[in-house]
Amino acid sequence: VSLKPYNTFGLPALAGRLVRITSEADVRRVVDSPDMGRAPKFILGGGSNVILTRDMPELVLKIEVPGLKVLEDGPEAVVIEAGAGERWHDLVAWSLDQGLGGLENMALIPGTVGAAPVQNIGAYGLELKDRFHSLDTVDLTTGRTVTLYPDQCHFGYRDSVFKQGLAGKSVITRVRLTLPKPWQPMLSYLDLERKMAETGNASPDARTIFNWVCEIRRAKLPDPAVIGNVGSFFKNPVVSPEQCKDIIARDPHIVHYPMPDGSFKLAAGWMIDACGWKGKTIGHAGVYEKQALVLVNRGDAVGSEVQTLARAIQESVYGRFGIRLEPEPVIV
Ligand code: EPU
Repeated sequence: VSLKPYNTFGLPALAGRLVRITSEADVRRVVDSPDMGRAPKFILGGGSNVILTRDMPELVLKIEVPGLKVLEDGPEAVVIEAGAGERWHDLVAWSLDQGLGGLENMALIPGTVGAAPVQNIGAYGLELKDRFHSLDTVDLTTGRTVTLYPDQCHFGYRDSVFKQGLAGKSVITRVRLTLPKPWQPMLSYLDLERKMAETGNASPDARTIFNWVCEIRRAKLPDPAVIGNVGSFFKNPVVSPEQCKDIIARDPHIVHYPMPDGSFKLAAGWMIDACGWKGKTIGHAGVYEKQALVLVNRGDAVGSEVQTLARAIQESVYGRFGIRLEPEPVIV
């Protein structure tokens, strides 16, 4: 089975076998099956956060669990539930159609609902963990369904237990989110402050913020349906105040943000841009012209070309700023 249509970078890779999962029972059938139960497995959602550099001898489980519903409408919050196979953006749009705000800052993030907790997706001042209620996973050894709550998920910046200790061990089938009442806008991100100034609208509703976020993203992020990509290719590095001072000494213009714990987050895109990478291409992989943090498929790229480009970027950023950039997608 070709995995090219199933990864948003559009990288060629073959899977020996692919099984579609539409329910917990489908996972149990795989676990109980004599030929599939013990086979090494790879879990694929929307393929928007993986770089495939080889063929997959593993059994690929393509997660397609459907469903969008309101579970609970309480005095303090609404709890909604979505199947892991739903597209994340469809969930955001659906929640607004129900009159429910709270996810609008995370509009247009590619990928599925089930993949969202894995890397704790986030954008424009809001992360999945800020709205997370719980999720269901099916254990790939026992076939048992387990519900996990925030403390068990170890959410960090673009990180969770599903990228660490539980990687490949269980399948996320359903995710529940809490939308607090009353709705409160999250407008502290620079790009959103600019929109408020431009439009003269200082108290936008959830739908307006949704539209603004869509406009901002469309202006600087490539649509994976048109140009293959996986969003940000590197994490924004977090450094100590001393390191930050040292880097400012190397370049006073570096974009940096203070974090609540006293550390600083550096804009990796700015550093890559400063090293002159914007718009550059190696082989068939390139750096997007409008956002240096995004690597793109110039047509028929293969995984090794993406890796070569990523390494070259890492080396030049290290040479100039002394910072090691860490890839954000999962590299297989
Ligand atoms: N910048 C440049 N040149 C560039 C790119 C960025 O100078 O080529 C500067 C920008 O001007 C800005 C700063 O770097 O001052 C940060 O850029 P931006 O606001 O576009 O955000 P980002 O750090 O590049 C992060 C997330 C995105 C998320 C946006 C908005 C990571 C790795 N990336 O990007 O998430 O959408 O903030 O919140 O944290 C993703 O994870 O795939 C992703 C797209």
